[in-house]
Amino acid sequence: MSFLTAFFYDKCMKATEDACLIEWRRGLLKNVEGKVLEIGAGTGASLELYPDSSKLQLSLSEPDKNMRVQLEEKIRSKNLTQISVLSCSSEKIDSDDETFDFVFASLVCCTVNDVEASLKEIKRVLKPNGSFIFLEHVASECGSDRRKWQNRLNPFWRKLAGNCHLNRETESYIEDAGFTFHEIKHESMRTAMALVRPTIRGIAKKS
Ligand SMILES: C[S@@+](CC[C@H](N)C(=O)[O-])C[C@H]1O[C@@H](n2cnc3c(N)ncnc32)[C@H](O)[C@@H]1O
Repeated sequence: MSFLTAFFYDKCMKATEDACLIEWRRGLLKNVEGKVLEIGAGTGASLELYPDSSKLQLSLSEPDKNMRVQLEEKIRSKNLTQISVLSCSSEKIDSDDETFDFVFASLVCCTVNDVEASLKEIKRVLKPNGSFIFLEHVASECGSDRRKWQNRLNPFWRKLAGNCHLNRETESYIEDAGFTFHEIKHESMRTAMALVRPTIRGIAKKS
């Protein structure tokens, strides 16, 4: 992401964060504990929504330098000392096998270069009973008008929005990677642009 995109990211997302994302993130993260990795943590939109618990050991990974600078600044300004920041991509997570109790991704699977490799890596670093928590905007139903527009505009949108894909079938990718859905909700991302409104969020188990 360019410096400017990263700089204005929080401002652009504020209305949608206030309308629904903060509530969704909080709900998804309320029971996490142990070793937790957030991939593509961006500017740290979820940072304050993790439980304030001594049982939590949080690692945040963000490969984009401009986003990571903001993330580190937010961590510093909030005096959060127990958090480690990594710069690895989700396709090659800098961690041993079976390390984490939870891996969290929000609005990331749409953007990664290789979603299959990323999910394979997430599975690798999760403990045997670990959970992948996701919140993603996704492809609309096949054949719908919205899906037709998502397909048409995807090549342009990817260039404008840091490789974000409008039409990723992330639910199928998660299933195909061998995860089992423990819970999944489909809901419209209020106030967002129509083409990115369809979302999924929930928890998928490794085993
Ligand atoms: C739309 S932003 C979402 C940021 C944050 N997760 C949030 O919910 O606000 C997508 C993020 O994914 C990151 N990203 C892009 N490619 C990635 C990859 N291959 N692995 C991990 N993160 C990636 C981007 O740098 C960016 O910070």
